[in-house]
Amino acid sequence: MVVGVSSTVIRRACTADVSAMLGLLVQLGYAPEEDWVRTWVGAASPDDRCLVAEVDFRVVGLAHIHRVPFLTESAYKARLTALVVDEAERSRGVGGLLLGAAEQAARDLGAGVLELSTSNRRQRAHRFYERHGYSQPSRHYRKTVLPG
Ligand SMILES: CC(C)(COP(=O)(O)OP(=O)(O)OC[C@H]1O[C@@H](n2cnc3c(N)ncnc32)[C@H](O)[C@@H]1OP(=O)(O)O)[C@@H](O)C(=O)NCCC(=O)NCCS
Repeated sequence: MVVGVSSTVIRRACTADVSAMLGLLVQLGYAPEEDWVRTWVGAASPDDRCLVAEVDFRVVGLAHIHRVPFLTESAYKARLTALVVDEAERSRGVGGLLLGAAEQAARDLGAGVLELSTSNRRQRAHRFYERHGYSQPSRHYRKTVLPG
């Protein structure tokens, strides 16, 4: 998939993008292991799509979705696990393009819904999602289940 507006291109991520992606994930507040990211980038998994945004051949944003089957609904939903744009490139429309491409990827995977979690403190991100038609119809609960 390639989506372009002016000089921005959205495409599937490849392993050459991993280093730039790690930097973006740090900006999002996370420091995943390189091998973990590499596993999902370019994954042959039919349930995953990892996208990057390029401006002038530089990776400036990423989005990852994962498709989940819901027994209750005889249908798939897709979950946006990460969306981030480089600090220097924000508020120029790149995030909107990435989100639109993630929605198209969800459709391509047969999912009828794209959902996400975002921290209560990310108030600008809330405005961003609401402007793009996302609502908050349910509560999100979480519990750590690994020992230690
Ligand atoms: C949220 C984010 C992906 C949007 O990408 P973007 O390229 O800035 O988005 P667009 O240019 O299409 O839209 C701009 C809107 O994004 C949001 N935004 C801009 N800068 C932001 C920031 N530092 N943090 C959170 N949201 C931001 C605002 O809603 C902004 O609208 P506004 O300028 O009217 O306030 C990007 O700003 C970002 O990476 N923010 C930090 C990480 C984050 O919050 N990710 C979402 C986690 S669930």
